[in-house]
Amino acid sequence: MTQMNDAFPKDFLWGGAVAAHQIEGAYDVDGKGLSTADVLTAGTQKTPRQITQGVLQGHYYPNHEAIDFYHRYKEDIKLFKELGLKAFRTSINWSRIFPNGDDAEPNEAGLQFYDDLFDELLKNGIEPVITLSHFEIPYALYENYGGLKNRKLIDFFVRYAETVMNRYKDKVTYWMTFNEINNQLDTFDELHTWTNSAVLFEEGDNKEKVTLQASLNELIASAKAVKIGKAINPDFQIGCMMAYVPVYPYACHPKDMLASSKMMERRFFYNDVHVRGEIPSYAKKRWEREGFELDYTKEDLLSLKEGTVDYIGFSYYMSTAVTTLDDLDGQPIRDFPEAKVVGNPYLEANDWGWQIDPNGLRYTLNTVYQRYNKPLFIVENGMGAYDKIEDDGKIRDDYRVKYLKAHIKAMHEAIAIDGVDVMGYTPWGVIDIVSFGSGEMEKRYGFIYVDKDNQGKGTLERRKKESFAWYQKVIEDNGLKDLTSCADE
Ligand code: BG6
Repeated sequence: MTQMNDAFPKDFLWGGAVAAHQIEGAYDVDGKGLSTADVLTAGTQKTPRQITQGVLQGHYYPNHEAIDFYHRYKEDIKLFKELGLKAFRTSINWSRIFPNGDDAEPNEAGLQFYDDLFDELLKNGIEPVITLSHFEIPYALYENYGGLKNRKLIDFFVRYAETVMNRYKDKVTYWMTFNEINNQLDTFDELHTWTNSAVLFEEGDNKEKVTLQASLNELIASAKAVKIGKAINPDFQIGCMMAYVPVYPYACHPKDMLASSKMMERRFFYNDVHVRGEIPSYAKKRWEREGFELDYTKEDLLSLKEGTVDYIGFSYYMSTAVTTLDDLDGQPIRDFPEAKVVGNPYLEANDWGWQIDPNGLRYTLNTVYQRYNKPLFIVENGMGAYDKIEDDGKIRDDYRVKYLKAHIKAMHEAIAIDGVDVMGYTPWGVIDIVSFGSGEMEKRYGFIYVDKDNQGKGTLERRKKESFAWYQKVIEDNGLKDLTSCADE
């Protein structure tokens, strides 16, 4: 087998990833407006986060302070440099730049913050990788326009994208438009439609139709931003950002196979538009069958064609399975009524029920590359876990190392054996942050521990976990030296 160190190109982007609302805090300073993430309360492993109408007394909103990266980024970047990061993925908080989304002028203090942040990263040899909208949109765009189901938001997004791409044209090369844009069509769970599109369903809404309209508006906005970005700086690399959770057929029953492919279609839909620049025939057929008349114009279709992406960024955490067999209980799926999502008996799960599957990463890299033939960038991967500070002050997170090692090995195989073009790897939550799904602090991903608990108590002190030295070595060696120690999950 090819040696690990031969697999990764010299300029491979080893990094770490976070998102503005999960780290920055400072939710109401320097002219920032409220964002959709600022009205999410804390949940727990079992209780969903609530979306409140504005910020209400008596609720705890974990993103308001998060880990106070806004004031501590210099200290954190010092640690990132020590870790050896070559790339740091974060997002720009749209509501720092346009506090209401539709303001006549951008907020200079917000622009200055990201100038300073990017300068600090570059000074430390770290390439910024920037998502334009990572699960947050100015709250006023929901209040005044109903969110992305309203096509006026296409122009607001494009203006925001143009403003920041212009401002940072000499500081940022790698961009992505909407984070995990394909999360929303799967379940219609309100958290995702809210965070992806700032949409709340109203009485009588056909949820699928409303979500599709918002999604189309986002895809058009994304394509327009790509075109404008390329005109601003032809060297920009502008990608999309997908969530990939492969859906396996539970059994080799042909209907299980079909069900799995139908479920994947909903996820591929977004990627198909981003990469091919057109609406796939399976989607048009479905809309016709369902009687959905979606609002888009000939010019929009042209925009989709003109704004295809340079690379595919994606997150990978887990896989799932689907079956049509009667004797199993599971979550039903819509496009294939007799099928349901079930657990995979071959996989273990973390404490939040996310099934750990490194081979699924290799499978995903292969499938996505075969489908699109575009460079791939793994911009999120990691395992949320409870960490404990031992009496000697150490955090022995060998479970995290085991997870990441196995996934890096899978990535290596995809590159070295299967010939997949992978640009970089930025594990999620390089430093502990507020969990998106549950709002917990104690669902930790980082190599750096942050002293803060689920109730918001703690000193915010940073402390290196044992995984820190391990990942530092991986980057230094440009891959894993010792493949034999990787558990083959
Ligand atoms: C992805 C998101 O869905 O998964 C991140 O892009 C999120 O924002 C990450 O934090 C992990 O999810 P969670 O719920 O464990 O924070």
